[in-house]
Amino acid sequence: MSWVEAAKRRAAERAVEHVESGAVVGLGSGSTAAHAIRIIGARIRSGELDDILGVPTSLQAAAEAVSAGVPLTTLDEHPVLDLAIDGADQIDGELNAIKGGGGALLREKVVAAASKLYIIIADGTKLAARLGEGCRLPVEVLPFALVPVLQRIEGLGAEAAVRSGSGKLGPVVTENGNLIIDADFGAIADPARLEAQLKAIPGVIETGLFLGYADLAYLGTEEGVRRLARRRRKAI
Ligand code: A5P
Repeated sequence: MSWVEAAKRRAAERAVEHVESGAVVGLGSGSTAAHAIRIIGARIRSGELDDILGVPTSLQAAAEAVSAGVPLTTLDEHPVLDLAIDGADQIDGELNAIKGGGGALLREKVVAAASKLYIIIADGTKLAARLGEGCRLPVEVLPFALVPVLQRIEGLGAEAAVRSGSGKLGPVVTENGNLIIDADFGAIADPARLEAQLKAIPGVIETGLFLGYADLAYLGTEEGVRRLARRRRKAI
């Protein structure tokens, strides 16, 4: 296992320590969140955890949960989650993040907003002084509005492109039937302002800027795990 993969696993182990029996847990998407799902499954099998339910943020997370033996539920049945554990494409020292590299940002943000405790896990290479530096911002867009939204995003100063996948011709279609624009803004001077500007564009469904959601982050390093905590808890 590479040091990065081992670091992701260590970060996931620390996050799963917050999961108690009886918890309803938001299950994030991506390779780091998959470690957390597998660890939760292993703890259910060993008897350390019981009565756990998970709300998956994507088909990938759902498949990981089924394979790990984590029973699933929905936000209809559990609109408030005890906690959620998810990965990130980039995170800053204030625990703001860019997500959506896996195209699951919309459901991930819904789950983040529904969680009393939201934990981001990542390897230490994801930590950045300023969001957007070397990381494109994914924006989920209504297909009908694609070209006007693309032009408006370019008008905000980004180099933007519709995400294409592999294994299928044409654009990536999200699990919500939408498209993704990846926007390179460079280092984002004022993420909250950019979030407001993007959300004001008709046809933008959601952005990958996760501002003020995370309570805790565990970042795996070559030697251990770095813990970052939010100064003020959010109200939910
Ligand atoms: C999914 O849409 C993303 O938000 C992922 O959480 C993010 O891409 C992190 O993935 P890795 O843990 O695989 O880096």
